[in-house]
Amino acid sequence: MSTARANSNIAFIKYWGNADDHLRLPANPSLSMNLDGLHTETTVSWDEDAKADELTLNGERAEGRALKRVSEHLDALRARLNIRGYARVVSTNNFPMGAGIASSASAFAALTVAAVHAAGLSLSERELTTLARLGSGSAARSIPTGFVEWHVGRSHEESFAESIAPPDYWDLVDVIAIVSGAHKAVTSQEGHQTANTSELQGVRVTGAEQRLAVCKAALLARDFEQFAEVVERDSNLMHAVMMTSRPPLFYWLPATLAVMDQVRRWRDEGLRVCYTLDAGPNVHCICVRSDAERVSKGLQSMSGVSDVRVSAAGGPTRIVA
Ligand code: DP6
Repeated sequence: MSTARANSNIAFIKYWGNADDHLRLPANPSLSMNLDGLHTETTVSWDEDAKADELTLNGERAEGRALKRVSEHLDALRARLNIRGYARVVSTNNFPMGAGIASSASAFAALTVAAVHAAGLSLSERELTTLARLGSGSAARSIPTGFVEWHVGRSHEESFAESIAPPDYWDLVDVIAIVSGAHKAVTSQEGHQTANTSELQGVRVTGAEQRLAVCKAALLARDFEQFAEVVERDSNLMHAVMMTSRPPLFYWLPATLAVMDQVRRWRDEGLRVCYTLDAGPNVHCICVRSDAERVSKGLQSMSGVSDVRVSAAGGPTRIVA
């Protein structure tokens, strides 16, 4: 029996759409920061005599979609690693699921690392990222520490994630404006499959490598101005693809747009803050630590913002028991 704890992550350069849906080979490379303290903790025990996989999620027995997805990932691990038996999986999240704080990233990172460790196997970090990717693309990025790049790759082995800088490299903080805690109507998994129905996806994918290079250079140089410009542009591009897909996906609420607008005004006033959004309405306001309190207080006073979570750059997925 092993327990792993994985942080969620926020992408600065987004993953949207797959070149291979089954292997989750992404259409474009992505770059993210792990989110300290926004984590999933998962315990796995393998049982050769059990008749099926079992999942307990946040204290409740899970069936249906959640169990199916976990079981399919365990099938992939069983097949690739020759593991026998079924698994008992107990998992808890310490943040709201399905609302733009990536719960599948931390969930599948923790599940993969706990399952492999519980089977008595010891794999390289790189291999663990490829296995986590099969469960959820963004989970690959929650395994290495700090700031992480996920390479596209043309095969299972080549599509891995690696750290480009440790958490303390740059004191960036994600101040998350929660505008809705509701479970999103269309999951990322479904969204990836319609990405190509937008005329804009080709343009977004073609430019992704260049945006990632600009973002990585800005991050490594701690150049906030360059960083902010490319992070917001990349998020806007992804949402433009979502909005022009068939059927269209609109994740923004009125409060989402109000926060984005406020962030731009704060930047004009000299605060080092920019926004990025995942497949949900909550706004991730990325700022330098010295501006985080002002941003957090400002967000709390906005109508439509129900909660604010603050998270610094986080470490890797770890075995904790
Ligand atoms: C918008 O990794 O959640 O958050 O592989 O189907 O689980 P699946 O998708 P997922 O997609 C993440 C999409 C995103 C952008 C990102 O995190 O890069």
